[in-house]
Amino acid sequence: MAKQRIKYVCANCGYESLTWLGKCPNCNEWNTFSEEFVEAKSGKKKQKLNVDNIYKLSEVNGEEDVRIKTGIKEFDRVLGGGLIFGSVVLIGGDPGIGKSTLVMQAAGSMNAKVLYVTGEESVKQISLRAKRLKVNDENVYLLSETDLDLITSAIDKVKPQIVIIDSIQTMYKPTFENAPGTVTQIRESTSYLMHLAKTIGFSVIIVGHVTKDGYLAGPKVLEHIVDTVLQFEGEKNYSYRILRAQKNRFGNTNEIGIFEMHEDGLTEVKNPSEIFLSERNDDLTGAVVTASMEGTRPILLEVQALVTPTNFGNPQRVTTGFDYRRLSILLAVLEKRAGFKLSTYNVFLNIAGGIKIDEPAIDLAVCTAIASSLTNKPAKNNFVVLGEVGLGGEIRSVGHIEKRIQEAEKLGFTNIVIPQNNLKSLKRKSKITILTAEDVSSVIQKILK
Ligand SMILES: Nc1ncnc2c1ncn2[C@@H]1O[C@H](COP(=O)(O)OP(=O)(O)OP(=O)(O)O)[C@@H](O)[C@H]1O
Ligand SMILES: [Mg+2]
Ligand SMILES: [Zn+2]
Repeated sequence: MAKQRIKYVCANCGYESLTWLGKCPNCNEWNTFSEEFVEAKSGKKKQKLNVDNIYKLSEVNGEEDVRIKTGIKEFDRVLGGGLIFGSVVLIGGDPGIGKSTLVMQAAGSMNAKVLYVTGEESVKQISLRAKRLKVNDENVYLLSETDLDLITSAIDKVKPQIVIIDSIQTMYKPTFENAPGTVTQIRESTSYLMHLAKTIGFSVIIVGHVTKDGYLAGPKVLEHIVDTVLQFEGEKNYSYRILRAQKNRFGNTNEIGIFEMHEDGLTEVKNPSEIFLSERNDDLTGAVVTASMEGTRPILLEVQALVTPTNFGNPQRVTTGFDYRRLSILLAVLEKRAGFKLSTYNVFLNIAGGIKIDEPAIDLAVCTAIASSLTNKPAKNNFVVLGEVGLGGEIRSVGHIEKRIQEAEKLGFTNIVIPQNNLKSLKRKSKITILTAEDVSSVIQKILK
């Protein structure tokens, strides 16, 4: 018997090595290497070029691709207007976040023939979930299988327009000796599905688990193979779920879809601002409302800060939903440019509702919330605060100003603080009172009671 050759593969980036390594030289992660078999090179025949496959760009018909609506508006929005026929979409997320629920609901509301392949649950379990979600569609076929060759036969038989694979970590191609879930299998299975989708002509939705480090479906390499990568996320203690595009060959990656998880499944959240502000209490110190753009949509949310004296040791800085390093920068600006001595205080920062924001436009609200908590003065009622804070304490302009103002107006706020430089670009007259901001310290004085 020929000796099995072994290689070591980084589960994070797919880097391969002949010896085991503690630290990956490619992505610098620790303890990511695991043993896999070296696959024998299959004796592929030499391909001949078909000259008909070379096109002149100007002769290629550049029509918009056909999109299949999932029937779930928030899902379609994130996809860029629906599922492109022949595309491969990867949906990643933590265990139990609701991936199977989302794809099952989509399967039920799509106007297309769907083959739902599960490698994790039995057909019975899937059908119980479908019952709970009130999905009862003649066009949905179930298959509990993990062998991709058998799945291919099923695709031949059912001829679906959409194939759902739940999850990629359980699938395997028997020609490869490695176990399901290994980097080789995940990568090869995905490439295979991709190839099948483009040649036979159907779309694939692949469900993938996020590894402990937050990487989608194991290796990062997967993200390059597929057309679209969506991340389904949410805080365990909230019922909100956010679907976010990380990569999309057919749409904007800034779009998010917001859902709420109920007993009978996910419902779309049509007015996110109302939800994120619903538990607001006006006279609380350390709470400031701001407007963040999520894709093409403005969302009002509350920034909450809690500043407490440090009794011993280094002060703590803890953030939820906001970048930790950005907080450190803003604290330094507050200290140096606005005279707030924060080095002997712990600062806890939270974006209410469990949403994650990485937009500098909320900087000013963060600074104001911190100042409010430190000085024990609540912010004035009915104010929305907007602006990026520069290292000099200056307020820089933000994008989509009109949309943000409109959203604040819509929700009944009467005052909005915007960067001075945004003022001249305003075209529309608004009912809301607009105040301008030039530097952090003057804004804080204006807003705190
Ligand atoms: N009977 C139920 N009533 C209400 N909510 C439920 C019920 N069963 C499940 N859920 C909700 O659905 C979630 C699990 O959904 P789902 O199975 O779609 O997640 P998943 O991401 O596919 O999980 P996994 O990683 O295990 O495949 C649970 O965390 C819970 O919030
Ligand atoms: Mg599942
Ligand atoms: Zn690596």
